[in-house]
Amino acid sequence: MFDIQTIDDRREAIALATPAKHKSALGQFMTPSVIARFMAGMFAPLAEKSIRLLDAGAGIGSLTAAFAERAASESAASLQCEAWEIDTKMHEPLRATLAACGALMAGSGGAFRSSIQSEDFILAFADLFAHDKMAAPTHAILNPPYKKISSESAHRHALRGCGVETANLYSAFVALALLSLDDGGELVAITPRSFCNGPYFRPFRELILARSALMKIHVFESRTQAFKGDEVLQENVIFHLVKGAKQGQVAVSSSEDSTFSAVSTRETPFNEIVLPGDREKIFHLATSEATDATTRATARYCHTLDGIGLGVSTGPVVDFRMREHLRTEPGPGRAPMVYSHHFEHGFVKHPKPEAKKPDYIEINEETRKWMMPAGCYVVVRRLSSKEEKRRIVPAVFTPEAAHGDLIGFDNKTNIVHAFKNGLPAEVAKGMALYLGSSFADRWLRRFSGHTQVNAGDMRALRYPDIETLHTWGRTVGNRLPNQEEIDQIVGGV
Ligand SMILES: C[S@@+](CC[C@H](N)C(=O)[O-])C[C@H]1O[C@@H](n2cnc3c(N)ncnc32)[C@H](O)[C@@H]1O
Repeated sequence: MFDIQTIDDRREAIALATPAKHKSALGQFMTPSVIARFMAGMFAPLAEKSIRLLDAGAGIGSLTAAFAERAASESAASLQCEAWEIDTKMHEPLRATLAACGALMAGSGGAFRSSIQSEDFILAFADLFAHDKMAAPTHAILNPPYKKISSESAHRHALRGCGVETANLYSAFVALALLSLDDGGELVAITPRSFCNGPYFRPFRELILARSALMKIHVFESRTQAFKGDEVLQENVIFHLVKGAKQGQVAVSSSEDSTFSAVSTRETPFNEIVLPGDREKIFHLATSEATDATTRATARYCHTLDGIGLGVSTGPVVDFRMREHLRTEPGPGRAPMVYSHHFEHGFVKHPKPEAKKPDYIEINEETRKWMMPAGCYVVVRRLSSKEEKRRIVPAVFTPEAAHGDLIGFDNKTNIVHAFKNGLPAEVAKGMALYLGSSFADRWLRRFSGHTQVNAGDMRALRYPDIETLHTWGRTVGNRLPNQEEIDQIVGGV
């Protein structure tokens, strides 16, 4: 008798019995049945279909089990499962799961066959694929292992042989599975959200967009929830791709946690997910909080930083490398050093001796090249903690805040500038107002699951035009308004 609870019990027992080191070496984070069922539910109807299912990195077969349950309930004509699992310790429970799937299919009158492949999926599958020695799967369901792969590893070479350039096992598994699918074949995977942005995953995003249509994507709003027992810290997403299909609207859904008790779904035009003209092909995921106001603001604040003549850089002074040049007192030949602890009500207040960090830096041959010319800038904190409400914390730096021809900006900040020079004061103030809005903060969260805000994230964000920044900036005195007022001015929430 098929019982998904038994599979859950086995999964928990194995997770408890497996040393953390072994789990982390093989990226073994098993999917709870509630998520597995949600994933299986994302495929198009299965009735009367002859299915060849690929489960790569199958573990004890939780995903295949959920898929078989659905295939049987919809009377699929046949189900042929190929489960790839390198860890032989998983094979016995995996075999038991596959046997249960067979019984289930038999109960609904469908044919069933299965096999377990114990080789390394990347190495062996890449070889089969490259030599055209396999029957293309019609469906793939994956919770792949997460692990970096180094550029000279055997994995990387095998992947390159198939035209896949990627630096993590999870994206490698998805890429290979996608390439191997039949035309019109479907893939559902749960992975970290990290592939949605960042230069390392750009080739992977390009591959997804070139080979398939993104039909659905589900976001877990709170960290760690999807794999509570296994302490996975990144945000996760589940997505559904159809190979060779034409891209239409995307169903973006979200839930607070893995109980899926309050799922909200929004049909999103594709050009709100990947913005037109974005060479980085970042995936923006607007979830439940998206409203009409958000949509309107998204359409209005659509400019790239570059497009409005501004730029952003990481603060150039790495203070621990410059330690010998840092000073606590001002003096001739010294420039102000600006850190995020100088932020106060959206402006840089300098100096701050109570912070017990040097407020100045000696100007000499070694330090000069890391400094920026005097002027107005927007400084943005790069690091925040998970608990903090906001990711983007901006402050305006004005020349009145600290005198000198040069300024040292700490490396744990980002600096918005105009061709490495200061901005007009109103533009800087308007920009700080925009960056301080809930709208901008939420926009950033759509594509970044990290607590860090890097220059790349700031470039991926979209902005109002320069006139709007100017108008807003004129209303700002020497402190930013409170959150509520900022949100009223910027709108979008
Ligand atoms: C994140 S777990 C997911 C297991 C299962 N799909 C689930 O959802 O419960 C990934 C699985 O991939 C297996 N694995 C890791 N590297 C592999 C490789 N190179 N080839 C095949 N399987 C691998 C691990 O042993 C682990 O069982």
